[in-house]
Amino acid sequence: MDIIRSADSMAEWSRKARLAGKTIGLVPTMGALHQGHISLINKARRENDLLVVSIFVNPLQFAPGEDYARYPRDEERDLSITGKAGADAVFTPDAGSFSEGEKTIISVPGMNKLLCGESRPTHFDGVTTVVAKLFNVTGANKAYFGEKDFQQLVIVKRMVSDLRIPVEVVGCPTIRESDGLAMSSRNRYLDADERIRGLSLRSGILEAQRMVKEGIREANKIEESVKKILNEANLTIDYVSICHPDTLNKIDHLDGPARILVAAKVGKTRLIDNDSV
Ligand code: PAF
Repeated sequence: MDIIRSADSMAEWSRKARLAGKTIGLVPTMGALHQGHISLINKARRENDLLVVSIFVNPLQFAPGEDYARYPRDEERDLSITGKAGADAVFTPDAGSFSEGEKTIISVPGMNKLLCGESRPTHFDGVTTVVAKLFNVTGANKAYFGEKDFQQLVIVKRMVSDLRIPVEVVGCPTIRESDGLAMSSRNRYLDADERIRGLSLRSGILEAQRMVKEGIREANKIEESVKKILNEANLTIDYVSICHPDTLNKIDHLDGPARILVAAKVGKTRLIDNDSV
């Protein structure tokens, strides 16, 4: 497995691979790899000649006061996981060097200010700017993103479609702990009590799905029931919202494809989850 630390070397690696007629799959990550990442890596491994995993804690997507400095970093462990999973290259540019000095920002206006973008107004511009750059330097044919970050997935798909970036964005199902908590690198911030209270995101979503099955169609009524479950677990709700899965626009009456998205803080840790309803 090649460990590549500069954008120039990554671009050269990719140029040679493509000249040799190889397809490249990319799994973009910020490291602290867990089973969710491994499922993306395994799928990408199966579907491409070559597999690149990027590991970059992207400063552009953290606002001042967020957890950039304490975001978990464990390169040795991550490299061992990617090696065992059969990655051909790990692209891990030095901290900051990959996103410093540039002036261009890629933005998907509108979508970037909804949902998580309300409380994190600069977050998605940071994601799209770095993801576009990762697509360019890795020359990936396919890139794999988890549905756990559903808004990110929709925004990245929109950027790729608007800018005609020649990469196929593949969304992959959320991987959960055995009790239902969506896997996230941030779960390790939770103490035992918070870990249990955090499960209410999943319970809320399951309740929403139960209500829809029962025939309830008013989004507001469903959202209020989910909020009640989160409040009972003493979480600080950021949003509970039923949206169209392609546009992320709010839905009032459920009569077609819909997704419920939830964000809440348990203690200091912000958790998100979503599912179709
Ligand atoms: O989902 C993540 O880990 C990050 O947002 C990503 C896509 C690697 C961009 O920094």
